[in-house]
Amino acid sequence: MPLPAILEGRLRLPVIAAPLFIISNPALVIAQCRAGVVGSFPALNARPAEQLDDWLHEIREALRAGEGERPPAPFAVNQIVHRSNERLERDLRVCVDHKVPVVITSLGAVEEVNQAVHAYGGIVLHDVINDRFAHKAVDKGADGLIAVAAGAGGHAGTLSPFALVSEIRRWFAGPLFLSGAIATGAGVLAAEAMGADGAYIGSAFIATEEARAEASYKQAVVEGHACDIVYTNLFTGVHGNYLRRSVEAAGLDPDALPQSDPSAMNFGAGAAKAWRDIWGSGQGIGAVDAVVPAAALVERLAGEYEAARRCLCRGHADSGLSLSAAEAMRAPFPAEPGGPL
Ligand SMILES: Cc1cc2nc3c(=O)[nH]c(=O)nc-3n(C[C@H](O)[C@H](O)[C@H](O)COP(=O)(O)O)c2cc1C
Repeated sequence: MPLPAILEGRLRLPVIAAPLFIISNPALVIAQCRAGVVGSFPALNARPAEQLDDWLHEIREALRAGEGERPPAPFAVNQIVHRSNERLERDLRVCVDHKVPVVITSLGAVEEVNQAVHAYGGIVLHDVINDRFAHKAVDKGADGLIAVAAGAGGHAGTLSPFALVSEIRRWFAGPLFLSGAIATGAGVLAAEAMGADGAYIGSAFIATEEARAEASYKQAVVEGHACDIVYTNLFTGVHGNYLRRSVEAAGLDPDALPQSDPSAMNFGAGAAKAWRDIWGSGQGIGAVDAVVPAAALVERLAGEYEAARRCLCRGHADSGLSLSAAEAMRAPFPAEPGGPL
């Protein structure tokens, strides 16, 4: 199925820059959208709550002014749909007033939220860690899904991206973005090859100049690798991936962390402190070599994406096939004997 009109043909690269608690701010979102990928931020990052209205004005204005050679990609706001988020109703109202094009919901699928966004023509993408939650989200009216596979930064699942995408694609033909340790253009192409419409990339954007993170956090992302990531539910009650270095700095043994439970989940006032000291990150950071402007990161991803496409197509050409890159990536497989493949 084609992507919804809000996204179709508006992205330089099939990528949504994922919302990052504390870290995403208007400067990052504007840079992401201008570079041609969906930029996003959690509504809760605007503190106090009154700031959300200002941020949305700022983003809208900047993206209007930025219209030039290439229209900017649309932006998204993330709403944490959980009972501990006391701001949900208020933040949603502000997003409705601003007609935010894409709303990303996490941790709870609620029909009323979807209806409020649909009423002004926006779309809702809901993030899920398994097929059961994916069914629930679509039943409640989400337009699309974000499949959060193993290795993703922040709250993450444990399923292989291959398993998760193929299970969802058996019954869902709508917008589907894959997340979890994707930090290269080849990874974006791989997500498409698997059947997703694109990639949802978070951790790589921590190491950007615009990101609102301490220099030492950005440097830890640059220096880190998959084995530096710890999966635990201790800090928020939900399992997530964090940088080992920050867990040690908090005086804890990353290899012997106690268990927490979902009742500890809290997106109220105390949440920001936990996330400021304990650094969320996914396993894909081995691909991140430097702190760069967000535009340069998107440029790298775009270059790698094209190179990976050319590489695959060369493989086809070497075997006497003559498909265009796009055809090669989208052709059904296996092909009929005597067909294009
Ligand atoms: C530091 C950090 C903060 C995050 N905060 C949020 C958040 O507020 N809301 C949300 O839906 N997801 C959040 N996530 C998850 C991301 O949106 C996304 O699913 C994840 O980063 C994708 O995996 P990757 O980091 O391996 O690219 C966060 C991830 C990180 C690393």
